[in-house]
Amino acid sequence: MREQRVRGGAGADDADTAGSGDVRLRLPSPDNIPRHVAIIMDGNGRWARERGLPRVAGHRSGMRTVRRIAMAAARIGVKVLTLYAFSTENWKRPKSEVDYLMKLPQEFLAIELEELIANNVRVRVMGSRQGLPGHTLAAVDEAVRRTADNTGLILNFALNYGSRAELVEAARELARRVKAGELDERAIDEQTIASCLSTADLPDPDLLIRTSGELRISNFMLWQLAYSELWFTDVYWPEFTERHFYDAICEYQRRVRRYGGL
Ligand code: IPE
Ligand code: IPE
Ligand code: MG
Repeated sequence: MREQRVRGGAGADDADTAGSGDVRLRLPSPDNIPRHVAIIMDGNGRWARERGLPRVAGHRSGMRTVRRIAMAAARIGVKVLTLYAFSTENWKRPKSEVDYLMKLPQEFLAIELEELIANNVRVRVMGSRQGLPGHTLAAVDEAVRRTADNTGLILNFALNYGSRAELVEAARELARRVKAGELDERAIDEQTIASCLSTADLPDPDLLIRTSGELRISNFMLWQLAYSELWFTDVYWPEFTERHFYDAICEYQRRVRRYGGL
């Protein structure tokens, strides 16, 4: 493990937590950095409730964590950071909360896009475009377009994403190709299926993090997580800092990945 002296604590680049004095931040070893980290950002609502705030205040605060963790991931050389921002099941929430969540990408990008560009971050999205308001799509499309040539961290937002819906789409696509005579059904293998998913050109997540103490996958990347290492924390997403993120990666580095072998 290396250690680095940082000012202002684990959230040094966040005005909310700056000023708490010098602390030692344990950095993961530069060898064996996970190429792809996926995060189920959970606990915004509970974080807010415990403070007597409306749920949307938790989402707003969670937005600052996104910036913090994206920068932390870029700093240590993670190639892909996938963040679960809105699931296909989250439409079940009250309309006022959904409306707020649909405004967040716009708000986030208005504040952060220039810095993401300055840091060579490439923004991507995965999930269904169907049902997303025009203003949400416009904001993410602009971010994707303006960062398309960047070569640093891929910041991949899962927005209106559901893994089962993604697999249904893949099945339809394969059925269409077989029917059209473009594909022999006996030629379908794992690679064929993977190539029909929104992650076709990305490595599978090496590490999955879920915040807030929930121990479930909630329809996130079911295919891609087959051999990912899982790391859970009780910390709510708005309170998740670089320190927690690097702790997760340090633990990942101690794991032995066997993939069914010995
Ligand atoms: C995660 O926080 C953000 C989204 C799912 C959009 P939640 O809103 O699920 O927060 P809790 O789980 O209710 O605390
Ligand atoms: C998962 O969190 C979805 C996102 C983080 C976007 P939820 O809060 O929606 O998951 P459940 O309902 O607790 O399983
Ligand atoms: Mg939740």
